[in-house]
Amino acid sequence: MIKQAIIPLAGLGTRLLPLTSVFAKELLPINGRPGIEYILDECIEAGIKEVIFIISNKKIMIKNYFYNDIFYKKIITKKKDIRIINEYKRILKYKKMIKFVYQNKPLGTGDAVLKTRKYIKDKFFLMLLPDDLILKKNCSKAMIKVHNKYKSSVMASMNVNKKTISRWGIYKLSKKINKTDYFINDVIEKPSIKNAPSNKAVIGRYILPKKIFSKLLKQKPGKGGEIHITDAIQSLINENYKFIAHNFSGKYLDCGSMDGYIKSSMEISKL
Ligand code: UTP
Repeated sequence: MIKQAIIPLAGLGTRLLPLTSVFAKELLPINGRPGIEYILDECIEAGIKEVIFIISNKKIMIKNYFYNDIFYKKIITKKKDIRIINEYKRILKYKKMIKFVYQNKPLGTGDAVLKTRKYIKDKFFLMLLPDDLILKKNCSKAMIKVHNKYKSSVMASMNVNKKTISRWGIYKLSKKINKTDYFINDVIEKPSIKNAPSNKAVIGRYILPKKIFSKLLKQKPGKGGEIHITDAIQSLINENYKFIAHNFSGKYLDCGSMDGYIKSSMEISKL
């Protein structure tokens, strides 16, 4: 059973500057709620019991958002407003399941994941990248179901337009399992249209084996001098660890770029 999730939140968020010069992008409102709450709701609905946030000192406001008890208690005593009481209850529900670990230097997603090594209890865990919102159909839940059936790692996948292929990590597929699931041979980062082995792109949901930590411990920095989680995944694939790409059916929203972030609010309000 997958009971733990990790969420890397220690990146700089440069694509959302100037907003991110003073603000954590994961707290930016999307239709009146911080983006991270949609991610937490997805985890809860998928049966996750503990979520590990990887933050940095610069993003301490994320922790403060969940630890503002004195403020809420004061306001509630004064105003007895039922809406505020319910909001506070919701925050408390999230707080109970979140643990915080720190990555104070943004050395890459792989380095961020490594910070959770001591806290992962089971053989597999879920990782969600908070820039990628998937709504209407719970992607994590569907992936856990696939994992339970095949006992292998699972990564989210989405068909993308051929013209945009060089912006994505693209799967090289091996055996088709059913309409939505494929074993994969490889993940090619940002291929040219000519070299792209498929039109299925990597999206920010991963069920990873604990074994990934031993790869990350030895991993040298890759592209851009960062330690990438995809390089560690590739090492595991090279050693014949099974990875499945799951084509999810929810609505995908990219909140990590300015264009995508602006569109997300409009799209969510229509749902
Ligand atoms: P991105 O590579 O998209 O980087 O990270 P970013 O900093 O969020 O945004 P840009 O590209 O500068 O605009 C993917 C996820 O991994 C986290 C980020 O917070 C994001 O959720 N991350 C990235 C870390 O936790 N640590 C890192 O060192 C790098």
